[in-house]
Amino acid sequence: MSTATIDHLDPDVLRAYIERTRWFAGKGRDLHIGEVTRLGVLPGDGPVVVVHLVEVVYDDAAGGRELYQVPLVFYRDPEPRLEHALVGSWEEPADAPLPGAVHAYDALHDREATAQWLRAFAATPAGGSRTADAFVVHRVPGHELDVDAVPSLYPGEQSNSSVFFGEDAVMKVFRKVTPGVNPDIEVHDVLTRAGSENVAALYAWLEHLDADGSPWQLAMLQQFLRTATDGWTLALGSVRDLLAETVTHALEADAADQVHARDAGGDFAGEAARLGESVRAVHDLLAEQFPTERADAQDAAALAAVLHRRLEAAVDAVPELAEHRDGVAALYDRVAALEGFERQRVHGDLHLGQTLRTSKGWKIVDFEGEPAAPLAERVRPDSRWRDVAGMLRSFDYAPRVVERDFALDHPGTDEARDQRAAEWAHRNRNHFLTAYAGGELSADERLLLDAYTADKAVYETVYETRNRPTWAAIPLRAVAEIGAA
Ligand SMILES: Nc1ncnc2c1ncn2[C@@H]1O[C@H](COP(=O)(O)OP(=O)(O)O)[C@@H](O)[C@H]1O
Ligand SMILES: [Mg+2]
Repeated sequence: MSTATIDHLDPDVLRAYIERTRWFAGKGRDLHIGEVTRLGVLPGDGPVVVVHLVEVVYDDAAGGRELYQVPLVFYRDPEPRLEHALVGSWEEPADAPLPGAVHAYDALHDREATAQWLRAFAATPAGGSRTADAFVVHRVPGHELDVDAVPSLYPGEQSNSSVFFGEDAVMKVFRKVTPGVNPDIEVHDVLTRAGSENVAALYAWLEHLDADGSPWQLAMLQQFLRTATDGWTLALGSVRDLLAETVTHALEADAADQVHARDAGGDFAGEAARLGESVRAVHDLLAEQFPTERADAQDAAALAAVLHRRLEAAVDAVPELAEHRDGVAALYDRVAALEGFERQRVHGDLHLGQTLRTSKGWKIVDFEGEPAAPLAERVRPDSRWRDVAGMLRSFDYAPRVVERDFALDHPGTDEARDQRAAEWAHRNRNHFLTAYAGGELSADERLLLDAYTADKAVYETVYETRNRPTWAAIPLRAVAEIGAA
């Protein structure tokens, strides 16, 4: 079957379904469903899995359009086991892969359907590629797939949809898609071939070739990290240990001073340092494998101009930023005066939630880049200090999030909690950064790191003010500290 625009699917049915998924980025916005395209049927003898491309058109002031990948599995009769994933029931035309009345479900929720992807990967020779209908499957050499592994959908919050195949492999089906190379696949392919020990090895990926011969990279299969726990969860656990001890002591007279992050049960500093080493190793390998460039004085001025513009826009949206504006702007002026700095391929969206600790060390996941940026921007060389700043912000958020949880149940311990949260952030940021840098930062490096950290915190104040106003105090405090430095 070739690519076909579909007009028999009820746009309201698709819309209702998309709006209740986890991965849809435009929840709450004014929108309508545009063109719906059928890319093809997954090869194999299992149930009929048809991969659709659904265009979402935004009707609000911001406007724009996005394309989402929606694989549906069609059954002749209702499948009660998949009721939670029902998209709709309708009549397929005579030339459709399953003509007549069908019940359509989100294919990622169906084990029979997801096994179809795994079989398509496994049927492709290691190190080679295979064309099947409208799809091309690529296999990276070095791993024998377990085709009998039992599929299960990743239960967490996600912008894509991941399926675990037993303990052998994990498949990520990209939801928001664009023509061209997917940065997550591209980076994993390069780092896997280069032998990186800090990413989950890439095993295979699936593409669709459109009429112009451009690839659309739709899904990737990679090593399942069996012993993994994500860095965000671990960090929260460490803070909880510290604060639990803190509140106990705080209520026993003024002994709170005696509880410190370094002594508490779940100290994270060793992990933070090892994570710093892993991020450094990934950056070094990215610099070796992808183009690097020396940004000049003009580029530095251009970067500073972008930072200034973002700050001004943020001050308009968050009035509390105004008093810190001059301090932060002075930092950006110093960036404008830099003679130059290095740029390379970076992660682009690095934070503790994109790190996994395994029995074989820390791994970094999800190289799709800054979610809001267009593709061309996401793959462009950038400063590695932008990634480091993302990690530092995450080390600041973790203790603050836990501290807020404790506030309700432990009134009267505010000061002790606040001090220990600040201490945790400080201690772990330092351990991470020292291990990352392997020594002192140069004055220019420190400046870039501070500027990117300020920019990130400024962005967070806008995000929190719009979405979770009571959280805005977390990044505001960080902006105040940087602005005062
Ligand atoms: N190779 C892997 N092995 C085990 N768990 C993984 C692996 N890759 C990702 N995960 C888990 O799945 C989550 C989502 O993966 P991620 O690549 O960040 O998807 P998304 O692009 O939707 O954010 C991660 O936070 C992690 O907990
Ligand atoms: Mg992610």
